[in-house]
Amino acid sequence: MEKKEMLYEGKAKKVYATEDPDCVIVTYKDDATAFNGLKKGTIAGKGVINNKMSNMLMVMLEKKGIPTHLVEQIDDRNTIVKKVQIVPLETIVRNVAAGSFSKRYGVPEGLALKNPTVEFSYKSDALGDPFINTSCATALGIATLEEIDTITKLALAVDDALIAFFKELNIDLVDFKLEFGRYKGQIILADEISPDTCRLWEAGTWDTTKHTSLDKDRFRRDLGGVEDAYEEVFKRISGEE
Ligand code: TMP
Repeated sequence: MEKKEMLYEGKAKKVYATEDPDCVIVTYKDDATAFNGLKKGTIAGKGVINNKMSNMLMVMLEKKGIPTHLVEQIDDRNTIVKKVQIVPLETIVRNVAAGSFSKRYGVPEGLALKNPTVEFSYKSDALGDPFINTSCATALGIATLEEIDTITKLALAVDDALIAFFKELNIDLVDFKLEFGRYKGQIILADEISPDTCRLWEAGTWDTTKHTSLDKDRFRRDLGGVEDAYEEVFKRISGEE
C-alpha cells in the first residue's frame, strides 16, 4: 500500500490517504509538544519507538478481544491503520494520582486510587481540551450514550491488560490517554499507546517525591534523560537493544 495525499498533520503524527478508502498510513514524527503545543521539542528516535511500541501493544490488546485500528506495520515509522472517524474525546484512565488529577483534587502524585478512574476531555486544541462529562458530551452530539458506554468498558479492559503487561516489565502504569474511532458501525481503539500518552513509573517508585518517570513527563518537566527513558521502555517491551 502506498502513501497518497496527506490528510492531516497532528503534533506527533501525519496521516496519509492510500488507494484503499478504508485504510490510511500513519507516520510517526520525533516532534514533541506539551501544554497544548506551548512547549515544543524533538525527542530523537521517538517516532520509531512509539510506532513499534504502539503496534506491539495493539497486537496484545487484539488478542484480549479489544478491537483496534491496527492493520499492518510497514516500517520503522509507518503503519497502515483502519480509517476511522475519531470520536473527539480523549479518554483518560488513572490508577495512581498524578498530573492534572493531583492538581484538581489536591492530592499528592503517587496516591494509589481505590478504583481506576475514567474521565474525558473534549478534543479541541482551540479550547485546550476541556474536561467533559457524559451528559455534556451527549448534549453536544460529540458521542452517543451507547458509544460512551462502550468506550468506558473498552478503556477499563485496556487498563487491566496494560497493568498486567507492564507489571511483567517492572513498570507501574500510572495513567494513560486513549482515543477511539468509529469504523463500520463499531467503536475501535485508535491513535497510539506510547510513553507520549502514558505515565509509566519504574516499579516500586510510587513514593510521591522519588518516583522515576519513564515517559513524556521527562520532557514536560525538564527532567532530562528523555530519549533514554523511551529507549528503556522499548527495550523492556521488545527485548531489542
Ligand atoms: P494529565 O494528568 O495531564 O491529565 O494526563 C493524564 C494522562 O494523559 C497522562 O498519561 C498523559 C496523557 N495525556 C496525553 O496523552 N495527551 C494530552 O494532551 C494530555 C494533557 C495528557
